[in-house]
Amino acid sequence: MASENLVGRLLEHARRLTPEAAAPFIARAFDAGTDLVERIVRVWDPLTPPLRLRLHIGPFLNSRVYRLSAERNVLALRELCDLETTAHVLDIGCGCGRMAAAFTRFLNRSGTYDGFDAAREPIEWCQENIASRFSNFRFRCSDTFSPRYNPGGRVRAADLTFPYGDNRFDLTFAASVYTHMMPKEVANFVGETARVLRPGGLNFATFCLLNDRTLPLVAAGNSSPQLPHSLEDCRVRDLSDPASFIAQRETSIRALYSKAALRIIEPIRYGTWVGSADRSEMSSPYGFNQDIVIAVKLCSSNRESLSVGPAPE
Ligand SMILES: C[S@@+](CC[C@H](N)C(=O)[O-])C[C@H]1O[C@@H](n2cnc3c(N)ncnc32)[C@H](O)[C@@H]1O
Repeated sequence: MASENLVGRLLEHARRLTPEAAAPFIARAFDAGTDLVERIVRVWDPLTPPLRLRLHIGPFLNSRVYRLSAERNVLALRELCDLETTAHVLDIGCGCGRMAAAFTRFLNRSGTYDGFDAAREPIEWCQENIASRFSNFRFRCSDTFSPRYNPGGRVRAADLTFPYGDNRFDLTFAASVYTHMMPKEVANFVGETARVLRPGGLNFATFCLLNDRTLPLVAAGNSSPQLPHSLEDCRVRDLSDPASFIAQRETSIRALYSKAALRIIEPIRYGTWVGSADRSEMSSPYGFNQDIVIAVKLCSSNRESLSVGPAPE
């Protein structure tokens, strides 16, 4: 992982130092070079984006690991959410289509996949390389502001209306997205998720949750990533850019879900990001080291059964 993080940081520095007018040409030349190397060593694949875009979403120097992680994540959705091949799914913060590519091997022609993301370039790559091959796959850029992922974004994440109608989806999911958003932004996204899900539909999301067990471990530096700073009731990696990685209070997340009439299906599956000897994603079940929260959208007739009091941590 260290080498992947180093390459990601070097690319980030190079991006900052490159004059804006030259950036697209340099990026294209770099992508052509890394694609050529991957073709020569026979790890290139048409649904796998160039290295530069993979590093936008995570430490995916190795394109095989990129694909394997997505296969495992999709297996989680299939097994834990009883997903059918005809489902209508929404990928919130879909990045460069990591899970979309794996979904092309699962959904049949009656199923649909929609994905949106704040960042334009990965979405354009998905439109050109995935949607062009699979007509039931669609990608949109939400142009939401994110200091890390879309600093020029024009829409505040706390104000975004998801670009989809009400009650549209059987399953919505957000993988490693809420660990990059501030609490007010997450609150809006959870509310919007409830709007676009059909009653009885499921939401799958990953978080790093702070509770009585994890807070002392995080404070002692026993988490990946390390989150040394307190900010309101969250823990963050970097105070100058809190959304670069953020862990949220479990009680706050439970309250948000409750307000949105999303009933959490217990138990929350706590991940290995904190307190474990091996915190890597690839040695975690289903390829997620974050905590997995699955919830169902209540029908209006059973909303009153949702508990609204503070939940135990
Ligand atoms: C760690 S990456 C995960 C990408 C994808 N979910 C995956 O698992 O491959 C986080 C993604 O969330 C997106 N993101 C962050 N804040 C966002 C926002 N406010 N609106 C939409 N997307 C956002 C980023 O652009 C980035 O693609």
